Amino acid sequence: MTAPRIIPADKAGIAEAAALIVQGQPVGVPSETVYGLAGDATSGDAVAAIYAAKGRPSFNPLIVHVVDLAMAESIAQFSSIARRLADAFWPGPLTMVLPQAADAPIASLVTAGLPTVAVRMPSHPVMRALIDATGRPLAAPSANASGAISATRADHVARSLDGRIALVLDGGPTEVGIESTIVAVADNRLRLLRPGSITVEMLEAASGLAVDSTDNGTIEAPGQMLSHYAPSKPVRLDAGNAAPGEFLIGFGTVEGEANLSPSGALTEAAARLFDILHQADQSEASAIAIARIPDTGLGLAINDRLKRAAAPRP
Ligand code: TXA
Ligand code: MG
Repeated sequence: MTAPRIIPADKAGIAEAAALIVQGQPVGVPSETVYGLAGDATSGDAVAAIYAAKGRPSFNPLIVHVVDLAMAESIAQFSSIARRLADAFWPGPLTMVLPQAADAPIASLVTAGLPTVAVRMPSHPVMRALIDATGRPLAAPSANASGAISATRADHVARSLDGRIALVLDGGPTEVGIESTIVAVADNRLRLLRPGSITVEMLEAASGLAVDSTDNGTIEAPGQMLSHYAPSKPVRLDAGNAAPGEFLIGFGTVEGEANLSPSGALTEAAARLFDILHQADQSEASAIAIARIPDTGLGLAINDRLKRAAAPRP
């Protein structure tokens, strides 16, 4: 396969992408968090094509994207707590892991055989238009090669999946910049599986329940694997300045060659994180150093990604 075509995410682009998806081919698509590699969640062959393009180990299940609550409820069972979270945060960057509905119209490969399913109702107009145009739920992992840096721009997708997919819809840079928060909802218990821009405090306020955010050590999400989001170079955290050969990624007053947010704003840092990691990875430098990010609010989600980007590779 040649390099992916990048086309504008306008009406014609969405129609072309929908046609490919209905034929079983995955397409790179913007969402409000990161770009997704979207395919038909109802077709086992289409889901297999997503795994193949990403090079993802097949035991790692995918998020199913829905356009409305009726579609969500055809796939998953909603407890009253799940409904409350949906009311508070959907459409938006929250993924809920719920028990599957009886006869859910999704391929078993989507959930890698688990009895649960991860469901998200995105707010991005392009992703929503694509679900409408195909008339089916879309399975969409982040649109990067497995274990590598996530994509927040169409050209990141094209580079990471070069030769593996045919088409990327260009909707510009994504707004949030890091993947959705993932919470498992079971028996009126909430467990945080991946931190994101919907914080523990927000989940607790909306649900009235305490959220268990202790890492219990079992790998339930690949984002929970120690090495993930990894650049091709070594990464050093909490850096105050650059050692020889390092590309320093700054934050606040630590300037660096690129700065996540000169004013020290965590939302801006999240939105620019993966783009700047891609820049550092493409640079001449032989290693990457990153300034300290405060471990509060959205900083928790940013540091979660950075810790894994810096972890020893398998
Ligand atoms: O923001 C996002 O969530 C992006 C956009 C494209 O929607 N998607 C994304 O997908 O980050 P992915 O595949 O890179 O991460 C999905 C995570 C994985 O860590 C996976 O293991 C977890 O969701 N997951 C999916 N189904 C699950 C399930 N039934 N139980 C536990 N974890 C699950
Ligand atoms: Mg991912």
